[in-house]
Amino acid sequence: MPDTPPPRKLAAGNWKMNGLGADLAEARALAAAHAAPEVGVLLCPPATLISRMAEALAGSAIALGGQDCHAAAKGAHTGDISAHMLADAGASHVILGHSERRADHGETSAQVAAKLRAAWAAGLVGIVCLGESEQERATGRTLDVVGAQLAQSLPEGAHAANTVIAYEPVWAIGSGHTPSAGEIAEVHAFLRAHAPDPGITLIYGGSVNPANAADIFAIEGVDGALVGGASLKAADFGAIIAALRVS
Ligand code: PGA
Repeated sequence: MPDTPPPRKLAAGNWKMNGLGADLAEARALAAAHAAPEVGVLLCPPATLISRMAEALAGSAIALGGQDCHAAAKGAHTGDISAHMLADAGASHVILGHSERRADHGETSAQVAAKLRAAWAAGLVGIVCLGESEQERATGRTLDVVGAQLAQSLPEGAHAANTVIAYEPVWAIGSGHTPSAGEIAEVHAFLRAHAPDPGITLIYGGSVNPANAADIFAIEGVDGALVGGASLKAADFGAIIAALRVS
């Protein structure tokens, strides 16, 4: 596909179960510092903050995302949130299949695929997370694991405009440990080769911070980052975005 445009660079902040109204100040500070970034910038706050953050960021170049959605558009699912609700609150993206959802809620790749279809139906871009555990890497099964997750989590119809893939080794999340540049490059090359669309944006996640961001963005095949802890403060996330802009 020679006409495929290059993947869009993306810095996505995953606030996880962090953030109260007072923390909207961080989002405002980020928007003020990055008025017109050439790279995509996304904040995924807890669902309780999405609509307030949408108001706070109105007119800015920062997009909003949810952290999960239900596979159904609506119905009797107490405590769940549909993709349409996220879109209605102001989100354009949703993270799906994060390893914390897979571990804490037993989410399977088949469920992730169903959620991704629901996200598309609501007009959202799905950010599908996949990655190996420490033991899977230690036993040489990394590519088998991420290959199976990729095949099972992406239904037919995934392409660069509706799906982002985030490679997040489970052992790197929140640990301060990151894979070597060679290890990240190997997995990203594998994902690029097996993705349904070679133009899909492929981001890395797991202990990305202002100190290591430039090195990670220099790795072949890395189009950006999914950032947890370091996305909570505008100064830290802003430094990561700045590193992506010049990468
Ligand atoms: P971390 O989280 O940056 O805090 O390691 C990344 C993620 O879970 O998306």
